[in-house]
Amino acid sequence: SEGLFTYDPGFVATASCESSITYIDGAAGVLLHRGYPIGQLAEHSNYVELCYLLLFGELPSKAQYDDFAATVRNHTMVHEQLVNFFKGFRRDAHPMAILCGVVGGLAAFYHDNLDITKEEERRVSAIRLIAKMPTLAAMCHKYNIGQPFNYPRNDLDYAENFLYMMFGNPCESYEVNPVFAKAMDRIFMLHADHEQNASTSTVRLAGSTGANPFACISAGIAALWGPAHGGANEAVLNMLDEIGDDSEENIQRFIDRAKDKDDPFKLMGFGHRVYRNFDPRAKVMKETCDEVLGELGKADDVQLKIAKRLEQIALEDDYFIERKLYPNVDFYSGIILKAIGIPTNMFTVIFAMARTIGWTSHWNEMISGSYRISRPRQLYIGHSQRDYPTK
Ligand code: SDX
Repeated sequence: SEGLFTYDPGFVATASCESSITYIDGAAGVLLHRGYPIGQLAEHSNYVELCYLLLFGELPSKAQYDDFAATVRNHTMVHEQLVNFFKGFRRDAHPMAILCGVVGGLAAFYHDNLDITKEEERRVSAIRLIAKMPTLAAMCHKYNIGQPFNYPRNDLDYAENFLYMMFGNPCESYEVNPVFAKAMDRIFMLHADHEQNASTSTVRLAGSTGANPFACISAGIAALWGPAHGGANEAVLNMLDEIGDDSEENIQRFIDRAKDKDDPFKLMGFGHRVYRNFDPRAKVMKETCDEVLGELGKADDVQLKIAKRLEQIALEDDYFIERKLYPNVDFYSGIILKAIGIPTNMFTVIFAMARTIGWTSHWNEMISGSYRISRPRQLYIGHSQRDYPTK
């Protein structure tokens, strides 16, 4: 009844929904998608197959996979009029700002007959989103650097096509580096879903009003942008740049700053609301980082050295041990993305691209079940009623 509800700032102890998509055991460092451990998926599956699994609940047969992958490829182009949306942004706009706008703008292209109560229409919306995100993400980058947009190439797979749209240009041929494509696909997989994180909860909350799914995903992109969430991958690289070299005193100075409660500085890519043990994604990310830099002959990369030493010092420090702070998914991803040649301001866009399947799967799960509009309450701490001064 009125006035009787729990107060849980930051939703530390409140389950907002039931879900059968992703399971996390934060104490044990376990992450399962539809029951499958993330480590096994990263090793044996690929991003498009994982999209199918998250969306539909089971791994596809060969025929189902081929059909799904072909349908995703069929939807990679965006409406030519969407190019006009880009032109409204300053050339130096942050790509996350552009992405929020253009993905929200998709709602204006897919609205007329969209009946979200119909399973088939939700499926098509989901496929459109997964298929168009790499195209839109690459367009953000091309707009920033003043190059023409590349149309998708449907002879390439998902990660290859993204790299082509990012780095290809009409003046020269572009060969996709298979090491980069494999690493990119793995990064997509490691970011695909993570139960009720801030951006997914935002998508569910927006979706609970019955809003257009493209607009809901745009809300998720906005929530992801902050440095405490998806923006951390960009912040990690900026932090490693600021640290500059891997000398002991230098790294210790930043560790001491992170421990100082009077200093707002936090170790970016460290800590997690749910994991009180290693983030299993960070383990795979670290291995991928070693593989990619090794294959590129950059194993002595200064940022990799700083990151490894920083991790080592932090994990031996009482402050981080007592608070159970470990590297999270964002700690090593930026180093890989940088090695691939992705500019730092695109890191969070890549997280958003990959997370689109998670957001969409949660939206679909909610709409297909029974749900109510999300409407949290508050503890009012303002004035009691008072009279408006009339003189
Ligand atoms: C993602 O939720 C998800 O699942 C998110 C995500 C996903 O896939 O969707 O996993 C992706 O967002 C990863 C997180 C990326 N963010 C960062 O790397 C930014 C740095 N990390 C922190 O700001 C922080 O750890 C959070 C935001 C990730 C978690 O915040 P919480 O759960 O509110 O934890 P907290 O701030 O209450 O921390 C508890 C203690 C505090 O100290 P005390 O007040 O108890 O003394 O640990 C300290 C914090 O000050 N602390 C840190 C720290 N993180 C927490 N101290 C220094 N450096 C840090 N990074």
